[in-house]
Amino acid sequence: MYFGHKHFVEDKRIKKLREQLKSKISSEDVQKIMKSYERLGDIIIVSIPKEYEILKEFIGNCFFESFECQTVLEKGFVSGEFRVPYYAKLAGDGFVTIHKENGIYYKIDLSKVMFSSGNIAERIRMAHVSSPDEVIIDMFSGIGYFTLPLAKYGKAIVWALEKNPNSYNLLLENINLNLLGGRVVPINTDCLDFNPDFKADRIIMGYFSHEEKFLLKALDMIKDGGVIHYHNTITEKLEPHFKKDIEKVIAKKGKKLESIYYKKIKKYSPGIWHVVFDFKVI
Ligand SMILES: C[S@@+](CC[C@H](N)C(=O)[O-])C[C@H]1O[C@@H](n2cnc3c(N)ncnc32)[C@H](O)[C@@H]1O
Repeated sequence: MYFGHKHFVEDKRIKKLREQLKSKISSEDVQKIMKSYERLGDIIIVSIPKEYEILKEFIGNCFFESFECQTVLEKGFVSGEFRVPYYAKLAGDGFVTIHKENGIYYKIDLSKVMFSSGNIAERIRMAHVSSPDEVIIDMFSGIGYFTLPLAKYGKAIVWALEKNPNSYNLLLENINLNLLGGRVVPINTDCLDFNPDFKADRIIMGYFSHEEKFLLKALDMIKDGGVIHYHNTITEKLEPHFKKDIEKVIAKKGKKLESIYYKKIKKYSPGIWHVVFDFKVI
């Protein structure tokens, strides 16, 4: 009953949005714009085709009125070490919202930290990769993208390292929102400065960098037979060398890897993919 009602309300909103947009935009482009939007909590993010830049306020207002949301933002870009997003406000007010996904609450502040909708399958996968009471290090935890599913559904103990104080403060709030205080140990630090007196069963490396210092650090912190979930970007041309390049770094520590899983998560930019590679270190 409830879901039926929800879909009915959504259909009415989409119909209203389409009609409003069609008053100034071609049907084909209306379709494109409507396909591109994403919703995070009470905030809508829209991609606006270049030729409609001049109509962006109109487009923002159409979404704002149809969806009765808090804010409509234009999709921007993410940059720098802290992966700070730049979104332009089109309608409404405020960048802070609570997004619920897979039974987990993520408080986000889109003026300060990113949240990638395209990584949803990976966040869900992380809920099922570990066994209870495993000790995990999330080297780049952000606001808890992977830490929270690992702690909630995997019942693991997660050491969540995050360098950016803005993301760290949201991580603290998210641990409380999800009642995971007993399972997550948050630390506001550069992961390279973390020197644990234990070895981890599993390490998550959710930050794109081609500097080998991060992988070498992970190798210092992983148990024999432990698993690393290694994320990076790769061009199509270099993809065949991806695994070999990692093997070379691992060999510097006198170790080998055993492949477990490899996936192209999403297109990151033209010709470049975000990939994840899970491997056992032996
Ligand atoms: C790209 S975000 C994580 C994205 C996330 N995996 C997702 O699914 O959307 C990477 C995080 O690593 C943090 N970070 C970057 N360098 C770091 C370092 N040396 N130590 C700890 N955290 C770091 C950034 O501040 C950011 O919050």
